[in-house]
Amino acid sequence: MSFVHVCICISVLVSQSLSVNKDNFKSCDQSGFCKRQRNYEPGESTYIALLNSLKTTSTSIELQLLNKKNSVKLLLQVIGLQDNTIRVKINELSPLKLRYEIPYGEVITKQPVQQEIKVDGSSQKGVTFTVGDTTGVISAEPFRMDIFSSNEPVISLNARNLLKFEHMRVKPGWFSSIGSGLKSWFSQPFRETPQPDPPNDDHEAESDHKEGENEEGKEENEENKEDEPKDEPNMWEETYKTFTDSKPNGPTSVGMDISFPGFQFVYGIPQHADSLALKTTKNSDPYRLFNLDVFEYDIYSPMALYGSVPMMIAHNEKKTVAVFWHNAAETWVDISSNVADKTIFSKVADFVQGNNEIPQTDTHWFSESGIIDLFIMMGPRPKDVFRQYALITGTTALPPLFSIAYHQCRWNYNDEADVAAVEENMDKADIPFDVMWLDIEHTDGKRYFTWANDKFPNPKDMIGKLSSKGRKMVIIVDPHLKKDDSYDVYTDAKSKGYFVKNKDGSDYEGWCWPGTSAWPDFINPDVQQWWASKFVYDTQPGSTPDLFVWNDMNEPSVFNGPEVTFLKDLIHHGGVENRDVHNIYGLYVQKATADGLVLRSGGRDRPFVLTRAFFAGSQKYGAVWTGDNMGEWSHLKISIPMILSLNIAGITFSGADIGGFFKNPDAELQTRWYQAGSFYPFFRAHAHLDTKRREPYLLPEENMKIVRDAIRARYSLLPYLYTQFYLAEKDGRPIMQPLWVEFPEETATFGIDDNFLLGPALLVRPVTEQGATTANVYFPGSDQIWYDVQTYAQFSGGQEKNIDAPLNKIPVYQRGGTIIPRKMRIRRSATLSYQDPFTLIVCLDKQAKALGHLYADDYRSFQYKNREYIHRGLIFENNQLESKNFDRNSKYTTKEWIEKIVIAGFKKTPNKIFLKKSDGSTIELGHSFNSENKVLTIRKPDVNISEDWRITIN
Ligand code: NOJ
Repeated sequence: MSFVHVCICISVLVSQSLSVNKDNFKSCDQSGFCKRQRNYEPGESTYIALLNSLKTTSTSIELQLLNKKNSVKLLLQVIGLQDNTIRVKINELSPLKLRYEIPYGEVITKQPVQQEIKVDGSSQKGVTFTVGDTTGVISAEPFRMDIFSSNEPVISLNARNLLKFEHMRVKPGWFSSIGSGLKSWFSQPFRETPQPDPPNDDHEAESDHKEGENEEGKEENEENKEDEPKDEPNMWEETYKTFTDSKPNGPTSVGMDISFPGFQFVYGIPQHADSLALKTTKNSDPYRLFNLDVFEYDIYSPMALYGSVPMMIAHNEKKTVAVFWHNAAETWVDISSNVADKTIFSKVADFVQGNNEIPQTDTHWFSESGIIDLFIMMGPRPKDVFRQYALITGTTALPPLFSIAYHQCRWNYNDEADVAAVEENMDKADIPFDVMWLDIEHTDGKRYFTWANDKFPNPKDMIGKLSSKGRKMVIIVDPHLKKDDSYDVYTDAKSKGYFVKNKDGSDYEGWCWPGTSAWPDFINPDVQQWWASKFVYDTQPGSTPDLFVWNDMNEPSVFNGPEVTFLKDLIHHGGVENRDVHNIYGLYVQKATADGLVLRSGGRDRPFVLTRAFFAGSQKYGAVWTGDNMGEWSHLKISIPMILSLNIAGITFSGADIGGFFKNPDAELQTRWYQAGSFYPFFRAHAHLDTKRREPYLLPEENMKIVRDAIRARYSLLPYLYTQFYLAEKDGRPIMQPLWVEFPEETATFGIDDNFLLGPALLVRPVTEQGATTANVYFPGSDQIWYDVQTYAQFSGGQEKNIDAPLNKIPVYQRGGTIIPRKMRIRRSATLSYQDPFTLIVCLDKQAKALGHLYADDYRSFQYKNREYIHRGLIFENNQLESKNFDRNSKYTTKEWIEKIVIAGFKKTPNKIFLKKSDGSTIELGHSFNSENKVLTIRKPDVNISEDWRITIN
C-alpha cells in the first residue's frame, strides 16, 4: 500500500461500505512457516524422549528429545512454579546459533518463583511427576506430556504428534562453498541469549550437560546433514508482493499441539474481532497473532490485529486451566474440537481413560522463530487462572481516577479555540468529561514533541484552562520520527545510532504520517531511557502535569512495508531480527512513554498512556483500545467480546472508540454506543478526520439527554470502578468479565457474548441492535436476585428474560449480596469530586446479606504504595451494616464521608435506625421506606469513610 493509496482510501472511507483489503495481509498459505506447520499431519512427528538423559533438580526436570528422522536433539525442561503453574521449555540442545528468548523485564517482570517438582517414578515408558496438586506424565515414545488435575487429564502436549521444531541449519549446498572464516563465524552465538532458568534453591543439576553435549550435538548436525528435511519453497527466502524477506537463518519455526481434554470452550488469544468463545478454524485460517495496522478490519475473523496476547483459557463447569505461549514472533493458532468438528478426535481421553465420549478441544500453535516456552496454569477456577497469569506477566497498574472517567477525542480538534468551544459546549450541556484529546494534527508537520504554532500557540495556557476545571489533556506521540535534519528528536536519535537498522546496518526508513521516517529501536533499554527523557517538563514543549500521552501506530505501522509493517529481517539491539521481537515492539513504546511520565514527576504521579499495539504484560503500562472500528451496529456488538477477550487475557484497562472511528453513525447508534461504552473499562469517544462532528451535545435533544444520563451514571459509578481497579492490581482479576467468571458452573453462560459483568456486582446487557426496544437479558445464578439499578425491580437468577429496553434504558442490574459505593453529585469532572460524599447501594441476597469494598486514596499519585489509602469492608447481616478496616496497613485520612445508604430488598418496615460511631457515640438516623419496591433509604449518616461504624435497623 503506498502513501498516496493510504490517503485516497482515507478520504473516501466515510462514504463507502468498508471492509479489509485481504490482499494486503498474508493468509496462512502465503506464509511459508504457517503453511509448513499447518500441513504437518498428526502423527508425523517423530520425537522420542531419551529417558537415560533424565536430570532433575528440586524444581525442574530435564530430558532430551530426539527427532528420529534427522537425529536432532531438543532439550525439554519442566519447571515447577508457585501457585499451581508449570513451565515447559523446549529448545534445541545445541543450536547452530542461539535462538531468541524474551528477556525478563517487561513481559515477565522477573524469574517466576519456583516450586518443588517431585519425580514420582520413571520406567521404560516415561516419567511421572507432581507439582503441588498437579500430576504429569511424560511418555517416551512417541514423546507426549499429559497434565492431570484431580486425576483427570486437562492438558496434553504433543498428543497429536505435531511437535515440529525447525532446527537452525546451514543452507543446503552453501556451507561447503564458503571460506573457513565464515564457517567459524557460524559457530559463534550471534547474541547473548538467556540461559535456561537456574533452580531457585541451592540444588545443582545432577550433572552439567552443556559443554559435552553441545559438542555431541554439533557432531550430529554435521553427521546428519543428509537427513535434513527437503528444501521447500520459502525456507531460505520468502517473497510477498514486492518484498523479499532474506531469512538469514533459514527456517526456524516452532510448533506443537496442545489439547484440552474435557473442554468444549476455549477463550483468549486476543486481539481478534471475533466472538469471545473461540471458534474452530477448520474452515478458515488459524487465528493469527502478529501486530498489524489492519485498515478497515473485518469482524468475525481470525485475522491479526494491532496487538497479541498468546494466552488461552479452557473452561468447563468443573475446571479452568490456561496456557501462555511466551513467544514474540508471528504466531498462528489452529483450533479444532471433537464437539464442533465431530471427525477430529485425538484420543487424549482414550489414551489416559479409555473414554472417547469426553469433549475435547485440540489446538495447534506455531511461531516463526524463538523457542517453545509454555506456561501451564492449572486454575482450578477462573479467578485462580487470572491470579496465576498475573504472577507471570503482572497486573493492570492502578490508573489515576481521571483516566477511568469520560474522554472526548477526535481526529482532530483544530486549534485552541476549538478546544475551548468543545469544553464550553460540554459544560453548557452539563455533560461531564475529564480529558480532551489531540490527534496528529496538533504537531508541526507530524513531528511529535512539537506543536503547530499557528493553531496551538499557547499549549500551556490551553491545558491550564482545562486544569482549572479539573480536566486533563492527552496528545498523541507516535514512534515514527520524521526524517528531517532540522527536527531535533530525529537528529538526536540518528546521531546516537538509536534507529532500527536494515540488514546491512544502515538506518531503516519507511513511510508513515510525516512521510519518510525512522523508528527508534525500543528494544534497546538505552533507547527506552532516551525516549522517557523526552517527557521531562523542561524538555517536552508545552507540557504540564495535566498532559498525558497516546501511543498510536506502534505495531509499528509502516505504509510502504510488507503487510503495512516492518520487514522481518530488520535488525534491533543485540543483532536481533524483527522476526523474533515483532510483537513486543509496541509494548516497549508504551512502557518507555509511561516511564517518561513517571520520571517527569520524580516518581510521584501515576502515568496514563493509551497504546494501540500490545503484547502480554502491556497491562502494566496503561490502557489499550481496539483501534479503527466502524460506526456500524455490528462493530458496536463485537466491541463487547473484543474487550472481554482482552480483559481475560490481563489487558483489563481497555475500550473501543465510541461511535466507531470510520463512518457517520446516526443518533440512535451513537446513543446506544455511549450506553454500552459507559461500561467499558476505558471510555473514550473518537472519530476519523473526515467524519462529521459528533460531540455528544450535537445530538438531537432527546438523544443528547440520554447520552448525558449514561455519562453521568458512569461518573456516579467511578468509586465502584476505581475500587475494582485497585482489587485487580492486587490479584489480576478482569474488570469487564464474562458471566462464567463469577458463575463458572453455569454452562448456559459459556457461549454468551452480549451480557457481561462489570466487576462482580453489575450485570450489563447493552442494546446493540438497531431499532430494538427490548433485550434478552441472561440473569445468571439460580440462587441469585438481580436488582434493576434504576427501579430496584427484582429478577431471579438462572433465567433469560426479555426486558423492555426503549432508547433511554440500559439493562443494568446489581447482584443481590453486593454493596456498591457511588458518588451521586455529578460535577464537570471526576477530579472535582475527590472530596465528595458517597452513597452506598446495598442489594440484599436471599439470606438478607450483602458485602462490598470501598477503596479510596488521593486518586492520582503513587502514595498509595506508601500505605496512603483506605480499604473498607462493608458488611450487611442481621439487619446491621458495618464498615470495617479491610487492610491494617492502610493509614490514609480523607474528608470524604457517607451521605446516604440505600438498601434494596429490605423486607419489613423499619422502626428506628441507629448509627454507632468509633468514638462510642450513638445517634438516630432519618429514613424512608418504599414498601412497593422494598427500598429503605437511610439519610445522612455523616460518617467519615475512614472510620469504623455500625448501623442497626430495628
Ligand atoms: C490511527 C488510529 O487508530 C486513530 O485512532 C488515529 O486517529 C489515527 N491513526 C490518526 O492519528
